[in-house]
Amino acid sequence: MKLAIVTGASKGLGASIAKRMIKEGTGIISVSRTENPELTELAAEHEVFYGHYFCNLASSDEIESAFKEITALLQEKKTEALYVFNNASVISPIGTAGSLDHKALIQNVHVNLIAPFIISNILLSEALSDMTIVNITSGAAERPIQGWSAYCSTKAGVNMFTETAALEQQTAGTRHKIIAYSPGVMDTDMQGTIRSSAKEDFHDLKKFQAFKEKGMLRDTDTVADALIDLLLEKEIENGKVYHVNDLI
Ligand SMILES: NC(=O)c1ccc[n+]([C@@H]2O[C@H](COP(=O)([O-])OP(=O)(O)OC[C@H]3O[C@@H](n4cnc5c(N)ncnc54)[C@H](OP(=O)(O)O)[C@@H]3O)[C@@H](O)[C@H]2O)c1
Repeated sequence: MKLAIVTGASKGLGASIAKRMIKEGTGIISVSRTENPELTELAAEHEVFYGHYFCNLASSDEIESAFKEITALLQEKKTEALYVFNNASVISPIGTAGSLDHKALIQNVHVNLIAPFIISNILLSEALSDMTIVNITSGAAERPIQGWSAYCSTKAGVNMFTETAALEQQTAGTRHKIIAYSPGVMDTDMQGTIRSSAKEDFHDLKKFQAFKEKGMLRDTDTVADALIDLLLEKEIENGKVYHVNDLI
């Protein structure tokens, strides 16, 4: 059986990735704090497996307990190919270093960086033969954006984790592939949070408000399709950070 684990499938890009994978006949293991009823219906329509695991990715205990159940399920389903989309993320706290709330800062590092790390670590320790891990990153990993020091730093960490872990798998001679995917600006709730930040906290506020006003935010289905086409139709390069603009 082919399965895909998608974190943050409740909305935005994660929902679009899950929908496309269901249409490709792949079962979905969804991980987030809220459930997306549309996915249950779509999976039933396409007669593929769908399971949701309620999990706050800001908590290591919750991740470990959800993935204990998920790894048992993977064994039970005799999974022959597994895709893992580490997609869930938060942009907050937005503000200059010196003004950041520590609780929000810790949550950002946990959801954006520690969660993909722990999830990959757990799954790589399992005896699965063929796994593709896709870590969703951002252009913010590659350039500083004032007010986003937490987000830029965690996404840069995601890229380095991707490159390092891929190299390790190559050296070990496994069939596992680990890549990162930078999806560009999309019309999601995350962009809504960005547009509603205070101008003193976010230097580029007007630029991001203009993205929406000028219709420059891509829809998530288009961005998910570019990624899934890449995974299903091309030979992917282990450790590479792929950018949506090179694929569309
Ligand atoms: N939108 C953009 O313009 C843009 C640009 C570049 C990169 N990206 C990246 O693309 C990916 C998807 O972003 P998006 O715009 O689709 O985001 P979004 O619409 O804000 O959705 C975020 C997802 O993450 C989940 N999530 C957040 N905090 C969580 C937590 N503590 N525990 C579990 N799940 C949590 C949410 O699920 P629940 O709330 O149900 O838990 C939700 O499904 C992210 O990695 C983001 O960094 C986005």
